[in-house]
Amino acid sequence: MFLDVLCCNMTQTFRIKGLGGKKILSGELSPHGAKNAVLKVLAATALFSESIEISNIPDIEDVNSMILLLEKSGFFIKRLGARRLVCQPPRKTAARINTDIAKKLRASIVLTGPFLSRYGKISFPHPGGCVIGERPIDLFLSAFQKMGARVSRNKDYYTINAPKNGLRGANIFFENISVTATETLMLAAILARGETILSNCAMEPEIKYLAEFLNSCGARITGAGTPTICVIGGELLRNTKNIVYKTPPDRIETGSFLILGALCARDVTIKNCIPEHAASTIAILERMGVSLNIGKNYIKITNDFSGKGKKHFLATGVKTHEYPGFPTDLQALMTVFLTQASGEALVFETIFEGRLNYIELLNRMGARITSMDQHRILVKGPTPLRGRKLESPDLRAGLAYVIAALVAKGTSFIHNANYIDRGYEKIDERLREIGADIERV
Ligand code: EPZ
Repeated sequence: MFLDVLCCNMTQTFRIKGLGGKKILSGELSPHGAKNAVLKVLAATALFSESIEISNIPDIEDVNSMILLLEKSGFFIKRLGARRLVCQPPRKTAARINTDIAKKLRASIVLTGPFLSRYGKISFPHPGGCVIGERPIDLFLSAFQKMGARVSRNKDYYTINAPKNGLRGANIFFENISVTATETLMLAAILARGETILSNCAMEPEIKYLAEFLNSCGARITGAGTPTICVIGGELLRNTKNIVYKTPPDRIETGSFLILGALCARDVTIKNCIPEHAASTIAILERMGVSLNIGKNYIKITNDFSGKGKKHFLATGVKTHEYPGFPTDLQALMTVFLTQASGEALVFETIFEGRLNYIELLNRMGARITSMDQHRILVKGPTPLRGRKLESPDLRAGLAYVIAALVAKGTSFIHNANYIDRGYEKIDERLREIGADIERV
């Protein structure tokens, strides 16, 4: 397993032949299980007295990395085929998180909650992941201290110890809305003594989904999916009804395919998705003139150019916001969309201060994007794009480059494609199936 992950780390390159602005892709795409859901339920397995089965797992590098972290902490994980596994937590563990792996995986921070409340301690490096800003962990550390834990730090390692008789419930207000801090403290509170109230929480649907699963195994969580979550602490969880956690479809993949389809498709249907989880992206695309047919678990994108002349979409301003607002993970992709829309639009990235570092290469492809400050850019469109050599700075900007390369005229090479593999399973194969000329070289 470890060797597999290392091999995946070899730098990969996509070669993409652009469509020159033509919208001819056609067929079906389905989102796989959500990366940012499955990584957290894997961490939550530490709260159980026995093994837990997880299904609809995406085959992506971040999942392999999280599995490796758990195996190195004594968890027994058995694969039941490509998309299913059973995870058995150890009774005891050294609870020392492997640096090399944690340095690449922001989600490793979520282990701190369940490990502290189950095993009473954890040592871990500052978590890594996509370079999209400073990515502090102050909200986690101050919350654990409120629950009675002692935090110590040497140059590159944190060690946190829970009180001898375990974490105690506390009232915690998050000064920033943080997805992983909400999830981590919700998990920590499950084995803490007494009641914990978490305020100003993130409301991502995967948080509510995780809480419902844990409640079916004996947790007592109310308010998940709202700004205030209450947890009554108790014993180790037991999955007496043998419920399998089925990873929900990835809403960021759904949104990614929507934007890609709107720019490059004649007709593409996104199947087995949850349209409601992409409501903000749907609203923006429809406002800009994209025609979408939305069903219960599918979204069909059609670009009907029956002789009505070339139709451009109307550019409008976009601002990222915590869920259910427009997701920061789709910000770079929406910027690519705006390079092909008529007019001038401001893109305001409100969540991360380092998530606009991809615009220079888009401008070299022919886009007209002006940086206003660390959080805002101005996009003028439509501008034809030309294929170029690109280097993806992170997972989501990497996919934005794939879309830009498909829109462009000529051939592009996208290096560091392994970053894209972290969050999009076999994306080259899936795009080839709808007619894209993309291959891994
Ligand atoms: C999660 O990251 C996701 N990752 C990110 O997806 C996503 O972009 C982000 O939420 C926002 O939606 C995972 O779930 C593994 P945050 P997370 O804590 O939790 C500040 C992807 O591409 N903050 O919600 O790390 C922070 O600086 C990834 O799949 C503190 O100030 O993000 C940011 O400004 C990229 N102190 C804001 O909160 C803290 O202790 C939101 O960050 C923690 C965070």
